[in-house]
Amino acid sequence: MKERLLDIQKQALKDLESIEDLSALEKFRITYLGKKGRVTSEMKRLGELPPKDRPEIGKIANEIKAELSNRLEEAFIRIEARKEKKEIFLDVTLPGRVPFRGHLHPVSQVNREICNIFVKMGYKIVQGPNVELDYYNFEALNFPKEHPARDMQDTFYISDGIVLRTHTSPMQVRVMEKQKPPISIIAPGKVYRSDSDISHTPMFHQVEGLLVDKGITFGDLKGTLTSFVHQMFGADVSLRFRPSFFPFTEPSAEVDIQCVICKGEGCRTCSNSGWLEILGSGMVDPAVYGFVDYDPEIYSGFAFGMGIERIAMLKYGIDDIQLFFKNDMRFLRQF
Ligand code: PHE
Repeated sequence: MKERLLDIQKQALKDLESIEDLSALEKFRITYLGKKGRVTSEMKRLGELPPKDRPEIGKIANEIKAELSNRLEEAFIRIEARKEKKEIFLDVTLPGRVPFRGHLHPVSQVNREICNIFVKMGYKIVQGPNVELDYYNFEALNFPKEHPARDMQDTFYISDGIVLRTHTSPMQVRVMEKQKPPISIIAPGKVYRSDSDISHTPMFHQVEGLLVDKGITFGDLKGTLTSFVHQMFGADVSLRFRPSFFPFTEPSAEVDIQCVICKGEGCRTCSNSGWLEILGSGMVDPAVYGFVDYDPEIYSGFAFGMGIERIAMLKYGIDDIQLFFKNDMRFLRQF
């Protein structure tokens, strides 16, 4: 039996030398060490030996089994290592892979640009809720219930007294309610209107501005917005103030800039007028002061509100607002 065991050992070690892959290795394991393998079978027959021989032969059998197990393990590691080496072939002469770098969305970029201009003039940035009370979105801005001016904005209603804000103007009231003049704030953020076409999306962005103090005049409004337009679009771009109506400003004006495409000559973008509307503005209506307990005999101020996408479209000559929200990388990568 001892002879047989040593033969098996010799044969096994020889077999192992020529094994190059894992399936052959598995076959080897089954042949020698499996339940019905050659070493295992010999061990099962130990009981047939005279008792005095059993310890010695048993020891040899165990040693052979342990040795073959170790060798099997080594062979496994050797084969795996060779496989990995083949896979991680490294060619240091290949050009590197440039990592993908993201950047700010064009709307965020223009938002920051707008805010920076006003922050440099001393305005403070404030933010407020997108889900807004009817009171702040309309009532305290001098839109009484049933007033036709409410139709200017296609409102998403959450419930009777709660809306998705249709503009950033509610921030005027929220700020004035909490502090006394002097006030100079800008309020950027999302607004919502039930409207969707080439120049409207149900969600878009606005920046609101409000300045209230003693002795503020329409001249201050003109000077401030002129400075803004010159910084945003260039010092040679002229602007005009066109009379308009908003319930919360009196007088009200819409501001147009000279068409950035045709420089005022008249083209498709400006419908041949030479002008492009960029924002709404006006002197804060005394009726609004009534809601926040300011004395209109002492204080005056102006407000303005602009659409960020609209400014971005004019600045970059984009003709479809939907492009901002389609997440098409071919579009976004250009900014
Ligand atoms: N909130 C107005 C709008 O969305 C714009 C505006 C803001 C007008 C402030 C006057 C003063 O159309």
